[in-house]
Amino acid sequence: MDGRVWTFARASAAATIVVVAWGCSGADRPPTDAQGLTAVASVAEVMDAIVIPASETLFNAVVYSNGELVVAPSNDAEWHTVRMAALALAESGNLLKIGSRLRDREAWVSYADAMTMSAIRAARAADAKDLDGTLEAGTDVYAACTNCHRDYIDEN
Ligand code: HEC
Repeated sequence: MDGRVWTFARASAAATIVVVAWGCSGADRPPTDAQGLTAVASVAEVMDAIVIPASETLFNAVVYSNGELVVAPSNDAEWHTVRMAALALAESGNLLKIGSRLRDREAWVSYADAMTMSAIRAARAADAKDLDGTLEAGTDVYAACTNCHRDYIDEN
């Protein structure tokens, strides 16, 4: 192998390595943080995309009016829908702690965790088709929403 061919072989080997590296971590992969996680949406977008629709499903699942039960899931599919909404809220607590969405490691995390823990209880209650348990856990989820908003949304 003369010098020129050798140089070409080395250059193409180097190019191959670059292509392989590109293929492994290239343009079609999102940038990740140290944990390999990617915050794609803003906090407001996570609210709009996941938290708001899921919470509406949970909050509207069991409704009493003047002490009378007026809305309740009536079959397996409806309970499943409530349980999935609760799980979406539980996982949303994790989403709020990823990357740029994590505002601080104190109150923000405790509100996000409060949403996750109360939503887990709602999911368990829905799994057990427990009307009052679903209602109570939903009330606690609502408290987590309003506590976080009180501290982190400017009222001005
Ligand atoms: C850990 C904190 C936190 C929790 C928990 C949380 N939110 Fe939010 N939410 C925010 C912040 C911060 C904003 C403002 C985002 C912005 O405007 O940049 C927001 C915005 C919103 C908005 C306005 C959306 C918009 O497009 O501006 C709604 C509605 C909302 N949240 C509903 C909920 C509901 C319902 C829950 C509970 C099921 C909840 N949030 C739980 C932090 C939280």
